[in-house]
Amino acid sequence: MTVTLQRMPQKRTYLMCPPEFYAVDYAINPWMDTSTPVDTELALKQWERLRETLTGLGHTVHVLPAEPGLPDMVYAANGAFTVDGVAYGARFKYAQRTAEAAAHRAYLAARGWTCVPAAETNEGEGDFAYLPEAYGGLILAGYGFRTEPVAHVEAQDVLGRPVVSLHLVDPRFYHLDTALAALDDSTVAYYPAAFSEASQRVLRQLFPDAVRADDADAYAFGLNLVSDGRHVVLNSEATGMAHKVEAAGYTPVLVELSELKKGGGSIKCCVAELR
Ligand code: ARG
Repeated sequence: MTVTLQRMPQKRTYLMCPPEFYAVDYAINPWMDTSTPVDTELALKQWERLRETLTGLGHTVHVLPAEPGLPDMVYAANGAFTVDGVAYGARFKYAQRTAEAAAHRAYLAARGWTCVPAAETNEGEGDFAYLPEAYGGLILAGYGFRTEPVAHVEAQDVLGRPVVSLHLVDPRFYHLDTALAALDDSTVAYYPAAFSEASQRVLRQLFPDAVRADDADAYAFGLNLVSDGRHVVLNSEATGMAHKVEAAGYTPVLVELSELKKGGGSIKCCVAELR
């Protein structure tokens, strides 16, 4: 007997920032190579397709205006982490991105979000994921490369949700969102090898039914996805991952984002969810 799972989509609100000033002028992760030419026009086209894909699925996408001198601002997921109307602000590790936090804070505050600036280094949704239906509302948080573990404590204090810290150990997967994604309110997909042995054990305990990615999926940025609970929007190179999520009952939607891969990011990096 085949059991067909009915995965239910939920209307989402996202924040994106166009790659108008996108460039690879500095290298702060292993994907970035300042000698590789970047086609900003193509990046903008691909970004636009991603935005249209999300609005086409019925979601609301707000656009944060890009600022000159902030080439990584297109990776909007890093600007804050919002849960229940509260935005826990980012505090970037590298000086090149510091000013992005204030831009996000100003944008969100002007639209009614309660913004709490961070005292501790953290890169927003790049290192935080939220699962409203897992264990009553659980935050997963990455550390090892960008976000400091003490920021996990700060996020728990600010957001009033339990935070589980996960240790990232592979520099290619320097943000949690390059190695783990929420497929719906209680299910995750992740790439085990990006995490320490202990954190892999924690993930197995918390999510025995998780979709597990392999090396090829992770290297194609297949974990860096955005899901509405049914439609899983992922990088067009991540075909193996698309099959895995399909087998788990979700509908993969592939979007090409090759230019933004040069900065070390993909779909999820470009999309912050506003909850
Ligand atoms: N170049 C950016 C950085 O290294 C990429 C950020 C990717 N964003 C993400 N959410 N993983 O900071």
